[in-house]
Amino acid sequence: MPGPELADISTEELDGLAERYLAPNYGKRIGLPIALIRGSGCWGYTPEGDKYLDFLGGIAVCVLGHCHPAVTRAIADQAERLLHASNLFLTEPQVRLAQMLVEHSFAEQAFFCNSGAEANEAALKLAKKIAQDRGETQRYEVVSLQDSFHGRTIATLSATGQTKLQEGFKPLLPGVNYLPINDVQAAHELIGERTCAVIVEPIQGESGVRPVGEEYLRMLRELCTERGAALILDEIQSGMGRTGKLFAFEHAGIEPDIVTLAKGLGNGMPIGAMLAKRETMSHLSPGSHGSTFGGNPVACAAALATLETLFEENLMERVQELSEHLFRQLKELRKAFPKRIREIRGLGLMVGVELDEAASVHRALLERGILTNCVRGKTIRLLPPFIITRAEIDLFIGELRAILAEEES
Ligand SMILES: Cc1ncc(COP(=O)(O)O)c(C=O)c1O
Repeated sequence: MPGPELADISTEELDGLAERYLAPNYGKRIGLPIALIRGSGCWGYTPEGDKYLDFLGGIAVCVLGHCHPAVTRAIADQAERLLHASNLFLTEPQVRLAQMLVEHSFAEQAFFCNSGAEANEAALKLAKKIAQDRGETQRYEVVSLQDSFHGRTIATLSATGQTKLQEGFKPLLPGVNYLPINDVQAAHELIGERTCAVIVEPIQGESGVRPVGEEYLRMLRELCTERGAALILDEIQSGMGRTGKLFAFEHAGIEPDIVTLAKGLGNGMPIGAMLAKRETMSHLSPGSHGSTFGGNPVACAAALATLETLFEENLMERVQELSEHLFRQLKELRKAFPKRIREIRGLGLMVGVELDEAASVHRALLERGILTNCVRGKTIRLLPPFIITRAEIDLFIGELRAILAEEES
């Protein structure tokens, strides 16, 4: 593994250059400047040779861990053959990836883009287009959930139910309404003949790992069908096997009209996707939407290798087993520290540990060599790669226990 001799630059130097040359939108990132120069499995390495156990996986991206050999090989092979072609021409990885996604889902066709925001942007456009094609010109409103997160473009920020993130960017898209999560009556009142789309994360990730509930999802499905709105399920964080099934909505036994994917799809290569049935997708008529890089052969080759590995190595079953192990240990920890740990939420390997105050625990975990994420100062978010071992989970639990015990002493 890399030692200091392999690093071209120190963390301190990088931090200084970043401060000078990068836009300040990420602020001080996680508080401590940490630079990663190499990753392997569930571990990330710094220029100084320190190593971190990655319980965040690049925010739900590295589902197979860092630099999985199958993905790295697929990227290298494809990069030697054809790096880019544009969508004026056919490329095999894009078509094969669409085929594979279709063969493992309710969908019949796929559209590819480069990020989660772009996938949701495409979904919102498609929902509008469906209504317009039907002559329903007044059906352009979007319903989303309070505390949701759907991206940072103007349309997806408009659909994001968090006023704090919208500050400074108004006016946003007109006609977006936010439902209080699990409020059935509000859903009946807000979803109506002007609603073209209802967009929902089956598990809200950015607001602290909050499952919206299977019954609520089923109710939204019925309501959308009844009122003629497209149900868009944003599986950008919860998809790709993270909950033990390829899509989190499968737990509720429903089918969306449109599903969006990104993050884990390319295991680190930037790629987003929108999936739907052929009839729904037919409204994306020639020339109506597009992307120069969308469906890029290298990104698609990485995604194909990721999906193949996911299925060949039964990693979704592994997610379920590891999840049971992780939840069991977290629940024990909660019993030991009932005042500090308020709630443990999530599904599969998408887990939120809510504390009365989490920022100090997040920092202490970093200092002990574990990467997690602190959401809204209260929740430690865990999104480890699916290849994490029981021993690595135990290591994390041991450190968390030691931090909470140290606080008490
Ligand atoms: C549920 C969800 N939707 C959309 C996005 C936006 O994805 P991206 O950052 O790739 O644009 C994210 C990113 O965190 C997300 O978690």
